[in-house]
Amino acid sequence: MVVAHDIFEMEIKRVFLIGFMGSGKSTLGRRLSTEMGWPFSDLDDLFEKKYQTTIENYFKTFGEEAFRKAEQQVLQEVLNEDKIIIATGGGTPCFYDNMEQMNAHGLSIYLKLSVNTLAQRLGGRRQVRPLVKGKSGEELINFITEKLAEREHHYEKANVVVDAEVLGVEGYIKIIEASGSLME
Ligand code: S3P
Repeated sequence: MVVAHDIFEMEIKRVFLIGFMGSGKSTLGRRLSTEMGWPFSDLDDLFEKKYQTTIENYFKTFGEEAFRKAEQQVLQEVLNEDKIIIATGGGTPCFYDNMEQMNAHGLSIYLKLSVNTLAQRLGGRRQVRPLVKGKSGEELINFITEKLAEREHHYEKANVVVDAEVLGVEGYIKIIEASGSLME
């Protein structure tokens, strides 16, 4: 299943991968980068480099509100880079006008996955993500269910919504190519 909206014959300069924690944005971004020859940036990594600390520490020290403001700054800095694949943080599209900014500056793709798949994928990597740290199996399922319900209307504003359970890299490349002309 692929749902596309608001795509005009545009020149694509940036691809934004969006979706919940654990949806595979960074892994996909690296693969697309290799296939397309465009550089890849992970917003979480850019954040940690800019603020010289881990996201976990930043959350602990300054709290989520400050994190969101700082994250918005990092996003602003990549909006004008050309020919780039960007994996955003799971919360990036849900704050301020970040989603609108991404749509205005490139092609956004929502990697949609079920709660169960997300829980499985997040199960082993809980410790590095402050929002899911220390949650047991059931707590994790409940957290994802609630958070996804809260966030999904932001994610759904993406230009393209894909069923990430089934789509492979070639499928994403076809979507990107079909969505507009890639910048030479
Ligand atoms: C967050 C997701 C994380 C990271 C931070 C907050 C969220 O990114 O930005 O821990 O609010 O969903 P990933 O989606 O890359 O794990």
